[in-house]
Amino acid sequence: MRENMTGMKVPVLLADRSYMVVVGHGVRHQLAEAIAAKAPRAARAVLVTSESLLGQPWADFETGLPTTTITVPDGEEAKSAAQVERLCTEFSKLELSRHDVVVGVGGGAVTDLAGFAAAVYLRGIAVVHVATSLVAQVDAAIGGKTAVNLVTGKNLMGAFHQPLAVLCDLDFLETLPPREILNGRGEIVKCCLLDGLTPPMMSALSLEDQVLLAVELKARIVSADEREGGLRALLNYGHTLAHAIEALELGGQELDIRHGEAVAIGLAFAVRLARHLGRVGDDAVASHDEALSVFGLHAELPQGLSIDALINAMAKDKKAHHDLTFVLPGLNGFETVSGISRRDVEIVLEAFGGVK
Ligand SMILES: NC(=O)c1ccc[n+]([C@@H]2O[C@H](COP(=O)([O-])OP(=O)(O)OC[C@H]3O[C@@H](n4cnc5c(N)ncnc54)[C@H](O)[C@@H]3O)[C@@H](O)[C@H]2O)c1
Ligand SMILES: [Zn+2]
Repeated sequence: MRENMTGMKVPVLLADRSYMVVVGHGVRHQLAEAIAAKAPRAARAVLVTSESLLGQPWADFETGLPTTTITVPDGEEAKSAAQVERLCTEFSKLELSRHDVVVGVGGGAVTDLAGFAAAVYLRGIAVVHVATSLVAQVDAAIGGKTAVNLVTGKNLMGAFHQPLAVLCDLDFLETLPPREILNGRGEIVKCCLLDGLTPPMMSALSLEDQVLLAVELKARIVSADEREGGLRALLNYGHTLAHAIEALELGGQELDIRHGEAVAIGLAFAVRLARHLGRVGDDAVASHDEALSVFGLHAELPQGLSIDALINAMAKDKKAHHDLTFVLPGLNGFETVSGISRRDVEIVLEAFGGVK
């Protein structure tokens, strides 16, 4: 990592597709420089963002190129095949060439959409992510996974497409609603736990430190395992139950829960499952609960969730290969554990507040 006046630069090392994630106040002003360095033949840029983000006080972007801005809906509504088709059609009307560049400015929804449109337009043109939410900065904009949703589920249509650069300007976070900060903290606490920090170490971190820690961890893991052959799956710590809770919500259960909040619950559950399986002791459970409270997150399952419905959803998770798979801590550190018995999960879920 390199420190200078213009933010901290964290490399994602992928041979000729390597790039920097830049974290700091004001780093959005490095957009033109990043494009000139990484896409010297680009003659124009298309900036993809939402109307509401264009209204923010920090919304001044200079690409150094003739630029067209295209707005998309806020949040998950942006992540549809229809929006991909619309963006690609606009790109072609603008005669965007293989040398030109797309800039995604927004939270994870916008960077996922802009990244996917850039991945498929002309079979792939360059994209730079300007990550405006905490989730996008610590997770979504890094690592090259892009996707949109289908009516049958989230992120089912996507591609791997690494960006040329990711700019994480900490100024953006000043306008982010508190609930979205909490959302990002779910991923941050996951990274702190994977990195072996103790709760006192976590409480000493500034927001900038937290973003850097998560960016460094993700950059390191993606550099070693771009396509989720093994190591990258560890980033799914806490996500097996989180995805199941989200699936029940999508299925109509009223929960009003953000992804990071579901991850927090999933982390509390995973460590309890690890304890039940004899992989860790009570101290690990206590330290996870303390870590969650450092970040203002709750470790309890929402009331009234059916154990059967949760287990059925977990067995269907697209990352679980049709059995019960969890990332769990243990004597050898964290690992992906498959084939966990339904009975074990039931016992721990019941003690965790699930209903029969
Ligand atoms: N590709 C990946 O590896 C990856 C990883 C994690 C999440 N994701 C995806 O990311 C999405 C979630 O990202 P998110 O949590 O950023 O959600 P989001 O993009 O929906 O943003 C949340 C809300 O915050 C607003 N917002 C964003 N930045 C703001 C700012 N600086 N000030 C004020 N408002 C701001 C957005 O307009 C939106 O209304 C999901 O679709 C998820 O699937 C992808
Ligand atoms: Zn997540």
